[in-house]
Amino acid sequence: MARILTGIQSSGIPHLGNALGAIEPGIELSQKKDAESFFFIADLHSLTSLKDREKRLENVNAVAAAWLALGFDADHNFFYRQSDITAVCELNWYLNCFAPYPMLANAHSFKDKSDRLADVNAGLFTYPVLMAADILLYDADFVPVGKDQQQHLEMARDIAGALNRSVGEEILKIPESVIREDVKTVPGTDGQKMSKSYGNTIDIFAHAKTLKKQIMGIVTDSKGLDDPKNPDTCNIFALYQLLATADAASEMRENYVKAGYGYGHAKMELLSLITAKYGEAREKYNLLTSKPELIEEQLIAGAEKVRPIAHEVLGRVKNALGF
Ligand code: TRP
Repeated sequence: MARILTGIQSSGIPHLGNALGAIEPGIELSQKKDAESFFFIADLHSLTSLKDREKRLENVNAVAAAWLALGFDADHNFFYRQSDITAVCELNWYLNCFAPYPMLANAHSFKDKSDRLADVNAGLFTYPVLMAADILLYDADFVPVGKDQQQHLEMARDIAGALNRSVGEEILKIPESVIREDVKTVPGTDGQKMSKSYGNTIDIFAHAKTLKKQIMGIVTDSKGLDDPKNPDTCNIFALYQLLATADAASEMRENYVKAGYGYGHAKMELLSLITAKYGEAREKYNLLTSKPELIEEQLIAGAEKVRPIAHEVLGRVKNALGF
């Protein structure tokens, strides 16, 4: 059975952009019959930028709750927290010693972050090595990632190849990347890509009042009720189209071009669509975050399922290297 593995950033409460762009496609992938999915929350990686304890705990819970609430089947897959499997830190060290310095220094994401951030620490520099350890520790076959992670995947393959060549044996499985080209770009309330750092998110798990306020705040042009409007340049319509059936979207399109249909109407339709689509997930999310022990239980069970695999692979590496 093919093993699909991917890491989930734990950077806050997932919003509509995360749900449509990453969580829902990931869940769909995990439902394939001929594959098993290893999805983990990359909390160790979060320490490169986030130092606050409470925030980290909160983020991990929020991300786990969102995946579970949106329907990820943790019982029939492998859902765990990176830091629960400490073998990853040990493998990280071995791999560090096979990761050429110039390769790491050339990483786009490091160059980009080291230009922008005040805290340029060694963890940021060796981020791709820990990522390689995440993948190689579980003999992953396929790693679905966005385009921005493609170079990191190449590095994981290079590092594994370097270790294998050095010991003269195929100790580590070389993973294949699956680059998702069709990632949906979800516009935020201001029309830029939806992102927490732009403050333009639609928080599907937020309190009903907040959600409504965000949707009512979607930026439009200043056309009045009686003006015909252009759906193709409108942020409300762009979002509606991502979520609605084809019929519902063409109905809204017709309303836009005729008079008497205002942006307020479109916003209300978008709001009811979002609350209908995510109603069940919102309830489940609230239940899970109000009883974090339920989340913890799932993550601990997940860690127990993957730990034997990690130890087997780590054992192979140690033996091959003479530890
Ligand atoms: N770096 C990835 C991201 O930013 C998250 C991640 C961590 C990951 N470890 C991984 C993805 C291993 C794939 C495989 O999205």
